Amino acid sequence: MKKIQIINGPNLNLLGRREPSIYGSQGFDVYLESLRKKFPSCEIHYFQSNVEGELVNKIHETGFSFDGIILNAGAYTHTSIALHDAIKAITAPVIEVHISNVHARESFRHKSVISAACKGVIAGFGMDSYRLAIEAING
Ligand code: DQA
Repeated sequence: MKKIQIINGPNLNLLGRREPSIYGSQGFDVYLESLRKKFPSCEIHYFQSNVEGELVNKIHETGFSFDGIILNAGAYTHTSIALHDAIKAITAPVIEVHISNVHARESFRHKSVISAACKGVIAGFGMDSYRLAIEAING
């Protein structure tokens, strides 16, 4: 059983209601159920927080024992050196995920300060970005 931690950052608690033309109209809880059904051999844990330090704490908590972390850091992607350092500090591979294609959006979304610390980046496939990240962890 592979242990996978999904971490969603700020404003992603509003998925389904937040800018549906960009992020879709599905809430994350419904999508998470479909992911768990699709990957019965994975134990998929989920955490969301709007607070930067809580995201750092969750990375520390799971980063030495889980098989992989899927991180959508939301807007902290573009600003958080603390998240970059947390990802560097742990041993589990971290896949950076974005629902939207950040490179096709405002220029302030083109720069990620966490990508260099991550194993890889998946962006622009809608919610399916998370499934692709699980496939990447599963190899
Ligand atoms: C996002 C893209 C970020 O630029 C934005 O701040 C988010 C969501 C995405 O999943 O497309 O909150 O990470």
